[in-house]
Amino acid sequence: MTLTAIANAVAVVTGAASGIGLATARALHERGAHVVLADINASSLQEATQRLRQEGSGQERGKVLAVVTDVTVEAQVEALMRQAETLDGGHLDLVVTSAGIGRGGPIDSFAARDMEALLAINFMGTFHCVKAALPAMRRQGRGHFIFLSSVAGKLPVPALSGYCASKWAVRGFAAALRAELYGSGIGITTVYPSWVDTPMVQQAEADSQLLNIQALLTPEQVAREMLQAALQDQHDLTLAPDRDTALILQVMQQDPEKAEELMGRAFQQRLTQLQGSHQEPA
Ligand SMILES: NC(=O)c1ccc[n+]([C@@H]2O[C@H](COP(=O)([O-])OP(=O)(O)OC[C@H]3O[C@@H](n4cnc5c(N)ncnc54)[C@H](O)[C@@H]3O)[C@@H](O)[C@H]2O)c1
Repeated sequence: MTLTAIANAVAVVTGAASGIGLATARALHERGAHVVLADINASSLQEATQRLRQEGSGQERGKVLAVVTDVTVEAQVEALMRQAETLDGGHLDLVVTSAGIGRGGPIDSFAARDMEALLAINFMGTFHCVKAALPAMRRQGRGHFIFLSSVAGKLPVPALSGYCASKWAVRGFAAALRAELYGSGIGITTVYPSWVDTPMVQQAEADSQLLNIQALLTPEQVAREMLQAALQDQHDLTLAPDRDTALILQVMQQDPEKAEELMGRAFQQRLTQLQGSHQEPA
């Protein structure tokens, strides 16, 4: 297996100061892993790390290290992995790439800098983690990555084209890399959740009436399922508890053109509804 146990594993989690990353760091710590929390947000990272240490005090838990890291900067990600390797005698067993951002809006007004940020953080951040962690995993002949994609990495979601591009990129990268690493002992679990109740989604909900958000998943649930999937070297973990998303994923698999048409029609209806509600007299 590419990851045999959580207890005593050295695990790096990016985006660990919030949401899914934080819940994953906590789940790993509870199960006895040595955890390296990485995030660009220094103050939230410090808070999260302190909380984790307090929760584990007096119990048999692994070490906890915080490393402020911008995953878009190759040198910082390399330094992060080198620090992780020093945590418990040189091994590096699991890397969870949860650092990410969400930006949406109609393409007509979507800024190039937003598209660049999405690709730099959501995709290039994942790539840098792989490049930096791979030498240690190659030496061990073992290791595992968990990549956060999204159901948006499998679907054509109107007004989320930039986010979709970044998450489809993660999916394509994972599939090609898995084939390239075949037989190496290094595995990848790609995770495709629908909306999860985290600060990212709360922000999206506040920003956009265009998105029909139903957050039925909790970060704790996603963390638990991801770790289970990694232990089984499961390649694809799709979490879509809402009926509409489950249905459209099915259509997308069987008839992608049909799925584009259905999502396009639903989007047009939503636009019309929103225009109507704005025109109603007060
Ligand atoms: N919340 C959802 O509905 C949902 C659904 C599917 C996939 N995802 C994906 O899961 C991942 C985690 O999302 P979340 O909902 O927990 O978001 P979140 O906003 O709660 O957490 C993301 C974390 O990433 C950090 N981050 C942002 N840019 C960074 C950078 N350049 N370097 C390092 N850290 C950086 C942020 O500071 C934050 O702490 C993201 O990749 C997201 O796209 C989220």
